[in-house]
Amino acid sequence: MNCVSRENILRFDRAVPRYTSYPTAPHFQPLTDKSCYQGWLEELPAGASLSLYLHVPYCSKLCWYCGCHTKITQRYAPVEEYAHLIMREIDILADTLNKEHNITHIHFGGGSPGMLRACDFEKIMDKVRSGFSTDPMAEIAIEIDPRGLTEGRVATYAKNGVNRISLGVQDFDEKTLEAVNRQQPFHLSYDAARLFRAYGIECINLDLLYGLPHQTPETMAQTIEKALLLEPDRIALFGYAHVPWMKKHMRLIDDAALPDTGQRFDLFGVGAEKLEEAGYQAIGIDHFAKPEDALVKAAKNGTLKRNFQGYTSDCADAMIGIGLSSIGQFKHSYVQNAADMPAYKKSILGGTLPAQKFCPILDEDRLRSAVIERLMCDFKADIHELCQAHGFPEHHLEQEIRNLDPYEKQGFLEINKNGFVSVNLAAKSMVRIICSVFDAYLDKAPQQPRHSRAI
Ligand SMILES: C[S@@+](CC[C@H](N)C(=O)[O-])C[C@H]1O[C@@H](n2cnc3c(N)ncnc32)[C@H](O)[C@@H]1O
Ligand code: SF4
Repeated sequence: MNCVSRENILRFDRAVPRYTSYPTAPHFQPLTDKSCYQGWLEELPAGASLSLYLHVPYCSKLCWYCGCHTKITQRYAPVEEYAHLIMREIDILADTLNKEHNITHIHFGGGSPGMLRACDFEKIMDKVRSGFSTDPMAEIAIEIDPRGLTEGRVATYAKNGVNRISLGVQDFDEKTLEAVNRQQPFHLSYDAARLFRAYGIECINLDLLYGLPHQTPETMAQTIEKALLLEPDRIALFGYAHVPWMKKHMRLIDDAALPDTGQRFDLFGVGAEKLEEAGYQAIGIDHFAKPEDALVKAAKNGTLKRNFQGYTSDCADAMIGIGLSSIGQFKHSYVQNAADMPAYKKSILGGTLPAQKFCPILDEDRLRSAVIERLMCDFKADIHELCQAHGFPEHHLEQEIRNLDPYEKQGFLEINKNGFVSVNLAAKSMVRIICSVFDAYLDKAPQQPRHSRAI
């Protein structure tokens, strides 16, 4: 492949979706007939493997970079009330679902699911176990903010089968953390990792961010060195998505302290280089994992997936979202729960599923989604073969392949005459832009979303 110049990559950078789904979330529509969701659940075939995503939309302090769906509370009462609502939602789901299913993945995300007191977490897990058939080998993961972690909670997670932890670290540099309103000294993260391991929870992911205020190649290198002391199995090095037009609190961050596009590119480069030197393998655009990790195995055998939580080896037949704003995924549709608390609460207390939005996945969407997923996961896609595998003529996406020409000229990718597209790994930060060529809905949302930039 041609060598790729940094200048050209920066020149081509633009705002595009993150492609954690296709069609992407701005294309979700109001779900007027609520019985549809019930139908999708009832229609799941006997023996279907299922993933559960449970959202906990509370945190005790706002990080100014936060792009997640969360609300700040110092009181426990709203969190406790919410725990009861999601338990009622589990009851409604359990009454609707075909009993012959197998839950293979459970993910508690947020916000900060670690805000749930141990007794409430245990009650929720009891509900999950009594309402659903959970695989004894299921992956049970929880996102943890090391601030506020207690040994009692860790013991409860271990007792309830939690086997994967995602620690929110973001950065270890004090000046950077100060500038985003997150005080988290190194020892909190280090002690958290040790405590989880002491309780037998061995699989630990760390979330880091590049593109935060005051980050420099030197501070990034130091942060990675400290992160390595925790011996994580996986590290996600996400690009900070600065979208102050969507998340007003991001205006609290001093724009002048934010790295520019070129600096962001270099920050990721420093982080990636140090992680690869330490033996981690790069997965997709922003993940790194130890060679024996399930993500590396999935990447090697072509089964790596991308969903709303990022890269995953989860290949369940469907995902069920539980809690405020959670998104579920079925073969023919995405479905999203109400994102405002009064609507969510009213629905649950009325005994109905709180679905509020949906997005049909048409045959053409499924094809484009497969192309985008393979590019995001493998950096290559056999377009002709995917067209045929989805019941379309092999040249169905020929115009899109032609639209890749400008990127091929820059050496960002190669296309062979059989429709095989292969992204130059030196230009992998361009992959979201390359994927956008296959996005038939881009720039067609009723309300134009402004995405974050690719780099
Ligand atoms: C929902 S948070 C859960 C973690 C937990 N609340 C914490 O912060 O420790 C998951 C991750 O999303 C990432 N994140 C949050 N805001 C982001 C943004 N604006 N751009 C990119 N990643 C972001 C952070 O790395 C964070 O750890
Ligand atoms: S980054 Fe995590 S802790 Fe901070 S506000 Fe967002 S969800 Fe809460």
